[in-house]
Amino acid sequence: MFGFLGVVTCLLLTHFHIGDGVWRYKNTFEEKELYTTHSAFFLEYEGSSFLEWQYPESCDVNNKSLPNAAIWCESSGFATVKPLVSVREEERHLYISDSFFRFSWYAVIPELRNASESDSQIVRIWIIDPDRAERTEIYNTALVPSIHSRYLTKQFLISGAYPVIESSSSSQTVQSYFTNQGFWEARLLGNPEYHSFCIFGQSVSFHGQCVVSSRHTFYMASPEKPYGDREVSLYLPTGSQLSLVWGVCTPYRALLLSEKGTFMTKNAFLTYEEVKVDPGDLHVPAEGYFTIFEAALLENALIFRVGDALLWRDNKDRILRMNPNKLLDHGVKGLNFRTQCVDYYPLQDFELASVLAWKDHELYVGGKSLDWQNNNNYMTKVLSLPKTATILTASFGSHPEALDALVMYTHNDDPVRLSLITFYETEGIWRSSTFLSNLKEQDALQGPFQMFFVGSALETLLVWNKDVMLYSFHNNSEWGYMQPTNFSSLSQAANGSHIHQVVMDHSWNMLIKMENNALFFCKAGINKLLRLPTWIDSGSSMVLYLNQKNQIDMLILSDSGLHVQKYPLLMEIRSAMRGGVHVCPFIGFTHKMKRRVYFMDKGDRKELWAQIVYHVGKRIDVKLHMNNKHLLQITSRTHFESVRGVETINKGSICFFHLVEQCINMLFFQTFIIYQETHLRSRPNNSGLISQSSGTVSMELLPTQIGNACYLPKNQVSHLLVGCPPNRHIRVVKPQEIPCEMHTFEKYTIPGSVLRNPKLEDLLVHYDWKRIGCVLKINYKAAFRPDIDLYDGDTFVHSVDANFIVWEKFGRKDYYFNATMQQVACLHEAQTWKSMLVDKKHSEEAWGPHNYRSCFVHTSKKLGNLDQPYEIMNKSSRNYLTFSQKDSATYVFIVKILDPNYSFCDLRAVFAVKTYGIKIKDQRLPMYVVLILTCITLIMLCLIFYKYVTVFRNMLRKKHL
Ligand SMILES: *[C@@H]1O[C@H](CO)[C@@H](O)[C@H](O)[C@H]1NC(C)=O
Ligand SMILES: *[C@@H]1O[C@H](CO)[C@@H](O)[C@H](O)[C@H]1NC(C)=O
Ligand SMILES: *[C@@H]1O[C@H](CO)[C@@H](O)[C@H](O)[C@H]1NC(C)=O
Ligand SMILES: *[C@@H]1O[C@H](CO)[C@@H](O)[C@H](O)[C@H]1NC(C)=O
Repeated sequence: MFGFLGVVTCLLLTHFHIGDGVWRYKNTFEEKELYTTHSAFFLEYEGSSFLEWQYPESCDVNNKSLPNAAIWCESSGFATVKPLVSVREEERHLYISDSFFRFSWYAVIPELRNASESDSQIVRIWIIDPDRAERTEIYNTALVPSIHSRYLTKQFLISGAYPVIESSSSSQTVQSYFTNQGFWEARLLGNPEYHSFCIFGQSVSFHGQCVVSSRHTFYMASPEKPYGDREVSLYLPTGSQLSLVWGVCTPYRALLLSEKGTFMTKNAFLTYEEVKVDPGDLHVPAEGYFTIFEAALLENALIFRVGDALLWRDNKDRILRMNPNKLLDHGVKGLNFRTQCVDYYPLQDFELASVLAWKDHELYVGGKSLDWQNNNNYMTKVLSLPKTATILTASFGSHPEALDALVMYTHNDDPVRLSLITFYETEGIWRSSTFLSNLKEQDALQGPFQMFFVGSALETLLVWNKDVMLYSFHNNSEWGYMQPTNFSSLSQAANGSHIHQVVMDHSWNMLIKMENNALFFCKAGINKLLRLPTWIDSGSSMVLYLNQKNQIDMLILSDSGLHVQKYPLLMEIRSAMRGGVHVCPFIGFTHKMKRRVYFMDKGDRKELWAQIVYHVGKRIDVKLHMNNKHLLQITSRTHFESVRGVETINKGSICFFHLVEQCINMLFFQTFIIYQETHLRSRPNNSGLISQSSGTVSMELLPTQIGNACYLPKNQVSHLLVGCPPNRHIRVVKPQEIPCEMHTFEKYTIPGSVLRNPKLEDLLVHYDWKRIGCVLKINYKAAFRPDIDLYDGDTFVHSVDANFIVWEKFGRKDYYFNATMQQVACLHEAQTWKSMLVDKKHSEEAWGPHNYRSCFVHTSKKLGNLDQPYEIMNKSSRNYLTFSQKDSATYVFIVKILDPNYSFCDLRAVFAVKTYGIKIKDQRLPMYVVLILTCITLIMLCLIFYKYVTVFRNMLRKKHL
């Protein structure tokens, strides 16, 4: 009876040709880790011909005749599920894991849920069981735990669990404390408008089950002011596919362009609003709206391409403006924006472009915000081609500094030729790629074209027109057509539909979406495409969006509005790959290149290791791909081990480990040692060479063989800045035994006679305590040698053993060195301040790493006078500074590192010395002596005169008598 009904329904279905239904599944929190045994998930059939669900015996369904049913599975492994509809319906192999994860972290910011507390930085955290959570907890509106969650959280707390909160912007962990209301509270740091953090736990379990680590994101989006009658809508041309535009470093701010309007979100499509513009002085087209082709989202404005002009809408006054001085007002053929944030990229004083626009023969770039009040142009021209070359499309490249343009050359009778050219922003030069030059003539492709670049050390990209997609991997070392299984072109594999969109997540999973919503999958770097089961019916308008949690969302625009649906990409890939065509040649691959940016100064070495596990009998290596190879030297060390089963720890989930396979595998370690060859940098007096030996190197670690089924670590590419690391500087150590005084005087004088350029009058110096710091009090007889430490910001790196020189800031020269050139074993006369200053150069520049010559190397130079003082010091030398023996003096010394092989940085520091101990009498003694002698002489003279007068008087008296 039932079977008969089924047949009838099938016949009816085929007869009336009701379109294919689609079916989907999800779990409560749509987390892939939570498809576990005994946890419920939900099946959903969309279509009208549903009969019942088919599922394995190990699973149970609440009501198999319900199109929306709940299902539980008891055993782990693949569960094959499908709705019984017609022969055509696709089945899925849902992977149910027996992992220990069952519970989730719940996080809520009360302020964002309109609670009375007004601190937007406080987050409350507790633990929930998805199967027993309350609705408010599932929809993230609960402010306090439910009874069950409170009990669960308490049990975990007793076992020693606490949340480790790591902010994604700063990678700092935030402290939390447990409150008597049954949850943890923490104060978040950073921008209150947008919080994104991960919560990790400890390996603590409750009845053998753990809490899964998770990412939580909160937005504080203030709604737009309501629009009035003046404002008009912006539509894509009729018949266009949906198109998505997002902020370079704020992907939760996005614009959805459609033929039904333009919509903006500030919270990753939790909410959205239509964007309208005040036409200002512009003429509104007769249809009553503007037709746009492309858009770009800046920090403070939106840019639209309307016809062949670029217009901008300021975020504040929302007026649409045309300004030929800032934006291109005619001939624009396309507008594109950067899709990956490059804020971390180490460039000083240089802003990489965020937007690009092209005309037929010219390419322009623009920055991340548009300042329309000043007079500067927003766009800068970076490419100007002859009339025979036409730009077909342009995009930001694989490297943060690269821009790429696809150019068509037409030369009289020659066949049309396509070429890809790349521009490096800081170098300012264009290079052409060999890609497409090998394309056969009969394969001549028709545009319009689009491109997608994978962030990679060596250029890796896809180029497509409506029907076919070409790839070029690793600087074109591999290229060809992307191959869907059993079909020659993508369009053919998708029932004639056209390519609509390409999206890639952070783990290098790529999705190619067709206009009929068919999806193809591959790992970036693989040319074999796998078709995934249908998730959305072919008639819906849909576009893919990669959200903040690295999940794919489907944005479906219908007459009833915008609908967001999570897409469980990893579950779908696993299901589709169960056939076994797509395998991974290795079992596990990890590497220790976790940071986005590394710095390498002279003399530094970096070690990067990678580990790969594979089956015995294979041989897979790890390759380090890098650009700018000439800057560095690389050696590598390898190490094999055979192991029985391997435990790989999933870093995101501390509680999770997984025995790979119980057979003998090979564990292969490869360590790359990266350093700079000395000869590259030791050639002195050549600033050209310095700039050639510094720069940025992009590095990428990849196994030599990969497949679609491989798991790849998230961060594949790191940039190494060979040059001066930011905030690197030196400090002079203040020895503990020497007192260092602050604010004891304001000014002092230097006698004119002790200056390097002697003067008649004395020099008055105002001492700058803020910049120079304390003054070391040293006895005039003592010798002193400064010790120098190297710092990165406030972090001590190591103490400096390189050679350095000192000079007195105000030009004193009454300080000396106690070693002679002979004593330090110079082979010829060494450089001295006297010899370096002959050209009357300024002390600051006269002597330094650029012109340093060591006296310990043989040269053809004459021996010279080795009895002169040696004026270079270092940590291990016996050469010390000595001070004036005539006068207590104040010196302000500048130290400078002299060794050219020590650092790319200009390392200088300042320290001050005040000597004491010289008795004041010494200097004035001769004057006193003269004075006293004069007095004595005067007294003597007086006495003599008196005596003489007395004698004379007596004589006179005698004469008169
Ligand atoms: C299962 O669902 C069907 C269809 O809605 C309904 O008719 C039937 O009564 C349900 N069975 C049970 C046991 O709830
Ligand atoms: C591809 O073709 C082969 C042989 O015709 C067939 O066995 C296989 O199932 C096909 N694969 C797909 C994904 O259609
Ligand atoms: C210079 O003075 C220091 C400290 O008094 C002493 O250790 C060193 O040996 C002296 N150097 C020479 C060459 O005499
Ligand atoms: C330190 O100076 C001495 C001479 O005083 C010299 O022999 C030695 O090579 C120098 N050390 C370094 C690291 O340059």
